[in-house]
Amino acid sequence: MSESHKPLSEAEAKIELSRLHKILSDANNDYYNKDLPKITDSQYDEYRRKYEAIEKKHPSLKRKDSLSDQVGALPQSGFSKVKHLVPMLSLGNAFNDDDVSDFVERGHKFFKHDEGLKLTFTAEPKIDGVSANLLYENGVLVQASTRGDGETGEDITANIKTIKNIPHKLKGEGWPDRIEVRGEVYMDHAEFEKLNVDAKEKNEQIYVNPRNLASGSLRQLDAKVTARRNLKFFAYAWGFASSKFTSTQIEAMQKLKQWGFATNPLTILCNNANEMLAHYNKIESQRATLGYDIDGVVYKLNDLDLQKRWGFVARAPRWAIAHKFPAEQASTIVEAIDIQVGRTGALTPVARLKPVTVGGVVVSNATLHNEDEIERKKIRVGDSVIVQRAGDVIPQIVKVIEDKRPSDSKLYEFPKICPVCGSEAIREIDAKTGQVDVVRRCTGGLVCSAQAKENLKHFVSRNALDIDGLGDKQVEMFFEQGLIKQAADIFTLEERDKESLTPLRNKEGFGAKSATKLFEAIKAAREPELPRFIFALGIRHVGITNATLFAKTYGNFEGFEKAVIAANDEKSEAYQQLLSIDGIGETVARSVITFFHNEKNQQALDELLKQVTPQTYVLNISNDSPVAGKIIVLTGTLEKISRAEAKAQAERMGAKVSSSVSAKTDYLVAGEKAGSKLKKAQDLGVKVLSEDEWLELVR
Ligand code: IVH
Repeated sequence: MSESHKPLSEAEAKIELSRLHKILSDANNDYYNKDLPKITDSQYDEYRRKYEAIEKKHPSLKRKDSLSDQVGALPQSGFSKVKHLVPMLSLGNAFNDDDVSDFVERGHKFFKHDEGLKLTFTAEPKIDGVSANLLYENGVLVQASTRGDGETGEDITANIKTIKNIPHKLKGEGWPDRIEVRGEVYMDHAEFEKLNVDAKEKNEQIYVNPRNLASGSLRQLDAKVTARRNLKFFAYAWGFASSKFTSTQIEAMQKLKQWGFATNPLTILCNNANEMLAHYNKIESQRATLGYDIDGVVYKLNDLDLQKRWGFVARAPRWAIAHKFPAEQASTIVEAIDIQVGRTGALTPVARLKPVTVGGVVVSNATLHNEDEIERKKIRVGDSVIVQRAGDVIPQIVKVIEDKRPSDSKLYEFPKICPVCGSEAIREIDAKTGQVDVVRRCTGGLVCSAQAKENLKHFVSRNALDIDGLGDKQVEMFFEQGLIKQAADIFTLEERDKESLTPLRNKEGFGAKSATKLFEAIKAAREPELPRFIFALGIRHVGITNATLFAKTYGNFEGFEKAVIAANDEKSEAYQQLLSIDGIGETVARSVITFFHNEKNQQALDELLKQVTPQTYVLNISNDSPVAGKIIVLTGTLEKISRAEAKAQAERMGAKVSSSVSAKTDYLVAGEKAGSKLKKAQDLGVKVLSEDEWLELVR
């Protein structure tokens, strides 16, 4: 969209209005009905602003179907945000029988010391819809929200209230005064087909699949539209509950049913992996005739106390898993192989495919992972291949159909120089194992614009500084225009914009409103939480989990940086302390040390720290935890609980678990056959606890 400053003639205005009308209508359809927005919110705002400006200037041109009169035509800003009382989690995946057995096995291992304990699991269909959180107070539905990012969703109360099988008032008894009921909103096949027949008759675009249509229907600003869509709901979980209402998953399902919710009739209790797999097969055999989309089976540990003990990893519970149905496949042709350069310089080959529909979605790219993969699968440009996709996973090439290979096809040669910056691209050799890395990396570092750009995208991403309005597209644009070259530049953008001849508000995709919003979001990111900031730096091998470990250990950024710089000497105490963090091994330690000793990184960091002040890390633990802030080492064989559980428990209560004993250690928990660590603790005068004493302390 180019900015024109010359006023439009009436004829020009008419054409422009019609063009904008088409763009905005398509965008509305993409957003609400297909749930596949193709333009950003700020681009939308900009088009919308122009549309309204023309209407204002030329009232006679205002169309009968003007978008400014339509309520349902505004994008998501129309919904207010709702913070969930308890975060909404996602699930880990199992793709085959072994993964399921492993899951059950992990459970048995975790609870191995609970003598005579029998683990049972529920098994139920995984509904392919949109999850929703319904808050009931004193039995009355008071608020409903989408999942959003898991922490905060959008308020869709009015829309949810139009769904006929969701109770506005809970039936029966025994519900907690305040409870978040969770489940899936979906559209069944009959309704989906009916709406598509209607759409076809009206010559409108048909909908992609029931899930997208359900999602679009839920996000209608006009609840009357949602009401016409005949959505349904299955309840399968809960978040916050002001009182305990049950002790097992299966009983919770019965309660939800008594309170008036639809629960899935294919939910059963299983005694072992075999029974779980048998139920999976049964559900799969009924998949085509259920009348609604499912994409797998969810298994959940039945006992709620045990669920609590087994706990969570990152955003998913350890005690539940989604067993996905096999991927759907199709055959197509590899038209080209492109190389993408990632944040760490990794050269990733991507196959450009002749577009093909796989399981209802058009696929035109597939990842090839690395050069060995291309060799192993013997893929060449021009080959006919089988592609598959499973759920949201990036499509993959399963195999080449070799007898369809064109006679003049040539072996694919993987580039040895970076296609973006021309630096040499190498495969590193692991100093310890002597093995060659599977990944070929560009050696250009921040000189390579691809790496610099990807680093910026990472810096502002969700788990990092999470700057609203600064997504991949905007970062690309600012980078290409030379406005943001390194992280520090983000924070000086507003100052520079004030003096710019082409300020942001006049740029394509931005308006005054979105520019102001962006500057506000940037301002709000100036005091990032410590784990996020460390993660944002994009140090290799430092994901959010390791970043959090560093934050917990060192408390503030200066402490962390100083310690890592001092740790360059492997004999130093700082190096030992780094390695003593449970979960941090040599590879990660080396990686952070290398990062802080790189001069370019240091310069970038110095600039950045002039702009931002990372917060001190405060443990989010109540003061009555007897082990909050204490450093604990576990050694020997524990008899009552597994080592993994003892560690999880200690961390849950705010302790730091270290793998080696030093003068800083507060407690050594010594099980049977404790050896050198026990001796060292005794020598240093560290308090030694038996397993029973430990359990007494934390329980
Ligand atoms: S349980 C803590 N059960 O799958 C566990 N989820 O991949 C919370 N889903 O966001 C989820 N059917 O939207 C659960 N029977 C089921 C489900 C189900 C569909 C969705 C849900 C969740 C996603 C995780």
